[in-house]
Amino acid sequence: MLLDAPAPVRAPSVDPAFRADVLAGLAARPRAVPALWFYDRAGSELFEKITDLPEYYPTRTETALLAAHCGEVATIVGPGRAVVEFGSGSSTKTPHLLAAIEPAAYVPIDISGEFLQASAAALAADFPKLPIVPVEADFTLPLSPPVGIARMPKLGFFPGSTIGNMVARTAVNLLRAMVETLGEGSMLLIGMDRVKSPDMLVPAYDDAQGVTAAFNLNLLHRINRELDGTVPIDAFRHRAIWNDDYARIEMHLEAVRDAAFTVAGQPFAISAGETIHTENSHKYGPRDARLLLRAGAWTPIREWTDAEGKFALILAEARPAGTAP
Ligand code: TRP
Repeated sequence: MLLDAPAPVRAPSVDPAFRADVLAGLAARPRAVPALWFYDRAGSELFEKITDLPEYYPTRTETALLAAHCGEVATIVGPGRAVVEFGSGSSTKTPHLLAAIEPAAYVPIDISGEFLQASAAALAADFPKLPIVPVEADFTLPLSPPVGIARMPKLGFFPGSTIGNMVARTAVNLLRAMVETLGEGSMLLIGMDRVKSPDMLVPAYDDAQGVTAAFNLNLLHRINRELDGTVPIDAFRHRAIWNDDYARIEMHLEAVRDAAFTVAGQPFAISAGETIHTENSHKYGPRDARLLLRAGAWTPIREWTDAEGKFALILAEARPAGTAP
């Protein structure tokens, strides 16, 4: 049962926040554009293709973990919770969870409105009796749950290692904001990608077919389309780099030659070898993951991982701060 979300604020044809972020990001050193701008319709579709790539192990590994352990999740969380998914995208992993736990409602939150509506409608067909309330929003900003959901006990669902796309301080802020949004006593099922050899990590973000490259370069196409840009796309190439100090994969757009262009009427220049930093994907060892959750006011209570320890699914609870040392 697909219910209307509180009327979304219609985006004007040029999103002023996109314009502001791109202009500021290209003027900054190092140059960087926030990763949320990847996800226009084309970007969201390319991202779905990434999740199917042979090199991209996280989606497959996490989906198998969910399929295998949803029963246990159900036993721990109990029935009757509203499932709130942060950055729901195509909601492909959600049916496993929804089918296992007898939820009271499903609230998918995503920045890509069109994509959100389509995925919510598809899900509504599979779960005809479940109230579904899609919310078009940037889930990194504080948000009050839709009316009707507010008083239900909640289970946050944050799969895909999306937490890894934030630097530590932003991740902690988000985890704490989730406690505010969901309330004390809520639970959170979160997927986190683990630290592993760069030999496996780098190809996952730089695949042989070039889908991840197309995803990264789509940002430049979007700038040209929506911000009246003249960026010469062929002057850039996709790069995925393992940064060991930060334990993260970084995606960059690297200039292969000197280039000059304008965006929204403003001039920019970049020299060969310089980059625009577009994405981070932080990886967490078992203790790193638990420390991050605790720093974000979540108490880990159970975790599941695959045989090779590639990916972890962690269930945590928002408990009041204890007084123990
Ligand atoms: N959070 C996932 C990851 O870091 C998915 C993801 C986000 C991603 N942005 C991406 C994957 C860019 C590839 C490229 O792996």
